[in-house]
Amino acid sequence: MARLVSLFSALWLSSILHFGSTLVTTGINSGDTNELQARPDPHVKSLGFIGGSLCATVKPLLGVSYDDFEDNEPDMRNLTLVYMTSTNETLTYNLTEAPTALPKEEWFNPKCGILVFLHGFTDSPEESKFQTIRLAVEEGLGDCLSILALDSSSLIQHFYLRASTIVTFIGRVLGETLAALIPAGLKPSNIHLIGHSLGAHIAGSAGKEVFKTTGRKIGRITGLDPAGPCFSNVNTTLRLFKGDADFVDVIHSNAGVYGLDETIGHVDFWVNGGCEQPGCLLQTCSHSRSLEYFAESMLSPDAFIGVKCNNYYSFRRGKCDRNDMSIMGYYTPASVTGDYYLYTAAESPYGTGALGTTYDDNGFLKGIALAIKDTFYNVWHKIKNRFNG
Ligand SMILES: *[C@@H]1O[C@H](CO)[C@@H](O)[C@H](O)[C@H]1NC(C)=O
Ligand SMILES: *[C@@H]1O[C@H](CO)[C@@H](O)[C@H](O)[C@H]1NC(C)=O
Ligand SMILES: *[C@@H]1O[C@H](CO)[C@@H](O)[C@H](O)[C@H]1NC(C)=O
Ligand SMILES: *[C@@H]1O[C@H](CO)[C@@H](O)[C@H](O)[C@H]1NC(C)=O
Repeated sequence: MARLVSLFSALWLSSILHFGSTLVTTGINSGDTNELQARPDPHVKSLGFIGGSLCATVKPLLGVSYDDFEDNEPDMRNLTLVYMTSTNETLTYNLTEAPTALPKEEWFNPKCGILVFLHGFTDSPEESKFQTIRLAVEEGLGDCLSILALDSSSLIQHFYLRASTIVTFIGRVLGETLAALIPAGLKPSNIHLIGHSLGAHIAGSAGKEVFKTTGRKIGRITGLDPAGPCFSNVNTTLRLFKGDADFVDVIHSNAGVYGLDETIGHVDFWVNGGCEQPGCLLQTCSHSRSLEYFAESMLSPDAFIGVKCNNYYSFRRGKCDRNDMSIMGYYTPASVTGDYYLYTAAESPYGTGALGTTYDDNGFLKGIALAIKDTFYNVWHKIKNRFNG
């Protein structure tokens, strides 16, 4: 009987995750301009409920558990690192051959360090997301730092449950490659991994691997709305956590749906409450927004300022107005720790500087809307706790 129930939940889970992936693809291909054409389906909300324990039950039934892959490692030969020149020429490097190929390249300057962008589910470096970050790096940080992207699209293009397991293995291979670049003069502290969604957990796994093989941590990992489904309440060995780099900063923009609703970095920024972003109707839009905020922060360092607070409720009520503030994004100082909250504008440029640290409660109707939202939020969390418990 128990097995039947598990199988049923496996089917249910795989169907909604497939449904979710369809939505992700639609969101990416159609771009933000078409956001208005579709509203999020209530089913998608339930994605955030999928805790580690449920995934752990379901994955073995589908043959995609960690154990399944430990015995039979997925084929990593198609992983590549992508570099784009300033004239938009794409150079592709086989990941396992990168430690010998990269140091020969003129653009590679180990003294300056490297940024590596790690895309999420159904994405690839060709998508506009990497281009957004890459152009921001070129424009904002000059040409000393090199930015690369890991192309794992051959492995995390389909079937979320499998992809969510495989990120651990992809991260290990990336970690081996980064560790092998250290003898070429690349200091671990000059490595900065920027991972969106599943990419954030690839970054975590790579950080663990570098530490395991060299005894040194990489400098920084930025998690842009780290993927939530199958990663909530799981062992930190399986997901990004603050031990994975000297400094782990996280920007939450769709927490509880596609993003993880947990504090996992040295510093976690909860933008507009961390779940839904203004101007977004699709959840995928909110999920991607973290990336746009980060890119904007490279070009305008003090665009986003958050205030330290224990929770969103207190932040909105102005109870944290006198607390510490911090810049969010590329220029967040590595000494900052804790949870920070801020508001942004609904369209680019999103950053509103220090204005974003206070809630503009300018009316009676807004008060009522808040009260309704709080009631909903409380009920929501009760259901969620029951589900996870
Ligand atoms: C990448 O390099 C490895 C080791 O040299 C090789 O086995 C693999 O086939 C290469 N992958 C591709 C896609 O060329
Ligand atoms: C490279 O591509 C970006 C957009 O993807 C464009 O804005 C830029 O002008 C291109 N640069 C060159 C040199 O073609
Ligand atoms: C690797 O890429 C080749 C050529 O694109 C493709 O035929 C093969 O199926 C891929 N292998 C994996 C494991 O994705
Ligand atoms: C996490 O996993 C590691 C290795 O499998 C294990 O040693 C550790 O006890 C686990 N931690 C928790 C909190 O379960």
